[in-house]
This record gives sequence, structure tokens and C-alpha cells, in this order.
Amino acid sequence: MRRKIPISKLTIGMYLDGIDESWIKTPFITHRFIIKNNEQIAKLKELGVKYIHIDTEKGKDTTYKEIQPEMDNMHFLKTEDIVVQMPKSRDMEEVVFFKKDSKQNAAAKYTQENLKVYYEELNHYTQIDRHTLIQGTIIDFSLYIKNNLLIEHIVEYDNRDIELTGGMLSREGDFHIKREDNYKYIHYLKEIVRLKSLNGGEQLQQLKNAVIRENSKLLMQELFLDPRSGEKIKECKTSVENIVDTIQRNGNVVSNLITINKYDYYTYTHSVNVSVLSVGIGINLGLDKDELYILGIGSMLHDIGKCKIPNFILNKPTRLTEKEYSVIKQHVLLGKKILIEHYNFPSEAVYPVIEHHEKLTGQGYPNGLKRDEIHLIGRITGIADAYDALTTARPYKKALSPFESLSILRNQIEDFDEFIFYKFVKMLSN
Ligand SMILES: [Fe+2]
Repeated sequence: MRRKIPISKLTIGMYLDGIDESWIKTPFITHRFIIKNNEQIAKLKELGVKYIHIDTEKGKDTTYKEIQPEMDNMHFLKTEDIVVQMPKSRDMEEVVFFKKDSKQNAAAKYTQENLKVYYEELNHYTQIDRHTLIQGTIIDFSLYIKNNLLIEHIVEYDNRDIELTGGMLSREGDFHIKREDNYKYIHYLKEIVRLKSLNGGEQLQQLKNAVIRENSKLLMQELFLDPRSGEKIKECKTSVENIVDTIQRNGNVVSNLITINKYDYYTYTHSVNVSVLSVGIGINLGLDKDELYILGIGSMLHDIGKCKIPNFILNKPTRLTEKEYSVIKQHVLLGKKILIEHYNFPSEAVYPVIEHHEKLTGQGYPNGLKRDEIHLIGRITGIADAYDALTTARPYKKALSPFESLSILRNQIEDFDEFIFYKFVKMLSN
């Protein structure tokens, strides 16, 4: 593709495809060549060239493109109006102290012991989307509600079918089922879709999307507990194919396929969200089906290495020590190892896993890669991951709104790919 960019954005590796000031006499025999060194750029600047054209198929692309004026016009909040201080690590998972609701800073509200017991208990449950439960339909599993660290019965299954009532479904909090009932829940969802299809019910597509999303979440939950399961990984590949197909076929369904983590964070939910957001971005960037599939699977498994990190560090309610942070950072290399050792993945699917914490400024980990050294699908996953981390609540921190989260990313844009971010904002605002 031929693009016009300011001379200040010209870098080594780009293919010069003409200069704007055609009357200028330059020392170059032709105005079509690969930029190989800084002297060539300096020479063009010396001659007063302001804009040049590049061919992105013959050389490196630019993040400048035509978005700059539009980006400059987009309104965002200032970081200091949202959070007290950005973490030194520049890691969005570490952003916990919010100005607007300082009471939410009360990490001390929960002791380490409280949280340890809570997260252990939580392992026996699965968070489900309350909107998939329909009043008047029958379930054959118990339902639970979670408020803060407390998990209580809504209704208990006692070998007798339960009819869902408005009262049950209006409870405030996160809906849960017992993990051992996962298959019953999926069966319930499929049955609802079948009935709706027969009766030509409204919102059928939305329900089908919910099945894809909930199914993927449950699968990821199992995979985090047993990352060696070949069977689960096969199912995971099918799940990603469904996500790619659904977003490609139905256009703007990204919001339908993600879970809003208003109350708490679940690794499996985060994994599915990041995959859906990444595939959505990929489609908007014009990636083809194979590339989307690789991006989808890699981003779905981007945090798989966390299954090897001790829970008390992963769920620590206060700032991590240097040592703890260095343990957390290992999850990317551990994730890569899991992928390479156990599964027959397309080799590029490893980029989202290994590069989602890299920053364009070189201040990320594990390798401190810069700009184009980070693979395109690594850069995409990095943005999706940071956004989902900000919009997700924890027992000790409130979720930021999409607008606040995008504002923080915008203010930190030197760490992220500006063009991908631009496409991301456009996608979310559609
Ligand atoms: Fe991560």
C-alpha cells in the first residue's frame, strides 16, 4: 500500500516511493528505493523534503499513517484524574489505586489469609453469565451468588428440576455454579439454543454467541488446571475457530463475546476476553483467516504459564515486592514452554504468549523488545491484555470503565502500537 507520511516518520527499512516536492533536485538517481541508513534520511531532510510516500508492501510499514490528526482529536481523560500513580513497572495489571473511590484502595480490608481461603474455595466454582439463564426454564444444577468474598446458595439442586424465577435471577453479585456442574450448564445452554431455533425466538444469535463464550471459558478453566490435556487443547482450537468465524460472519459482535468483570477476575474469563478482543482487532487490521486463527489461539493461551505461578503471588492484594514481581514475570516463558513441549501449535502462536508484556519503548519483559521487534500479533495481544486488566475488578480494586481504561492506554501510548490502538478504539466505539 502506498502511504504519505511526514519525513520525521521515515525510518530505515521503509521503501521510499516518491517525494512530494518533485521539483527538488536530489542527489538520488531515483526516488524509489529502500532506506538503508540514516544518511539517506538526513539528506532528504537537508533538501527540505517535508512529506514522502512509502510502499508498505516493499518495505517496513509505519504506525503514523493517516490516523494522527484523528488521534489528536480524540478526547481522553488525564491519567492523574483516574489513578493516583502509575506503577513503576508500567504493567496495567498493577494499576490498583484509584482516586475516584479511595475507599476501594482498602486492600487491607482483606488479609492475605482471607484471600487465600477465598481463592481456594473459588477453584470449586465457575463464574457464569447471568444473562444466559432464562426465567421459566429448567435447570438441574445448583446456583450460587458471590458478593465480595462470600459465596452463597441461590437455589440448591436436590435431584429435582428447578424452575428459574425472576427472584432468583435478580440477585445482585456474580453468578456461580459448582465446577462439577459445568457440563450440565453447557447442556442447558445448548438446549435453550435448540428450543429458540425451533420457535424462531428472538436474540437467537446473541444466545449462540453466549454459548461460544461460556463454552470457551469453561474450557480454559479446565486447561488452567490441567495444561497437559491434549483433549482440552483440541477443543480449545475448535473454540477459537468458532470465535473467528462468529466475529467474521456477524461483524460487530465483540461486545457480545466478552464478559464484563464487574465484580472479580477469573483467569479463564480474562483469557477468552483477550482472545475475542485480539481477533476483533485482527479483523479490523485485515488479517486473513489463518492469521486470525493463530492470533486467536495464541491470545487465548497468553497467560497459560500462570498455572505454574503460586496463587498467593498471583492474587496478592497489595503491591508486589521486586522478588514477587520477578516470579510473576516468569509466566511468559513458562507459557512458551508449555506450548512448545506439549502441543502441536503453529509456531507463530507463541508470539502472543511470549510478547504480550513487551512494550514498544523496550521497557517490557521478558526480552525488552522494541517497536518492530515485537511481532504484530504480540503487539495486538499486548493492547487487548492491558485493556482487559484495567476493566476488570478484583476484591481489592474497582474495575475502570472502558473510557477510563482507554484513556490510560492513550496516555501511555509510547508503550503500545498507536495504529493498533486507534483501530481498537474505533472497534469498541462502533
Ligand atoms: Fe500476562
